[in-house]
Amino acid sequence: MPLTRTTRTIPALLACAAILFTGAAQAGVREDQLAQYASAAKAETPGFAGFSAERGKTLHTQNFTGGKPDTPACTSCHGKDPRGTGKTPAGKSIDAMAASVTASRYTDPAKVEKWFKRNCTEVLGRVCTPQEKGDWLSFMLSQ
Ligand code: HEC
Repeated sequence: MPLTRTTRTIPALLACAAILFTGAAQAGVREDQLAQYASAAKAETPGFAGFSAERGKTLHTQNFTGGKPDTPACTSCHGKDPRGTGKTPAGKSIDAMAASVTASRYTDPAKVEKWFKRNCTEVLGRVCTPQEKGDWLSFMLSQ
């Protein structure tokens, strides 16, 4: 019955298009935020040559001494494996930071900024630079 098939296929196609569109919109939000960090990094550091997921990984796993002693690293809460779940000092579970595991990650720029500010201060004892944020984000988007 061609008619029945068509009436079923069209809503299905629309649903697929909606899913694809949402995916594209989310990817766009992340890229826009990275682009903003890049222009801020360029303005701060004349020799800025792009972000590095490798440097981001170092930032994520490194122990710092400037912040709170019980949370010396990002991994103190987020765990060693970006694809695994983390835990706050109070024992609250944190979803995986890897964008491939937790699809909603880094799709709300205000949330990303809020937590960078809070967590960098907690771990490093200062806010992160645009270069550090871009490196770290590049690492998590590559995971
Ligand atoms: C004291 C525990 C703790 C430490 C240490 C910590 N975080 Fe977090 N982080 C959290 C919690 C809790 C959230 C919010 C819950 C969530 O998004 O699942 C979060 C969320 C984030 C987000 C927002 C993610 C999103 O979905 O938009 C970013 C970015 C982030 N953290 C970066 C860092 C970086 C970079 C470091 C190291 C400099 C770090 N965090 C260290 C607890 C921590």
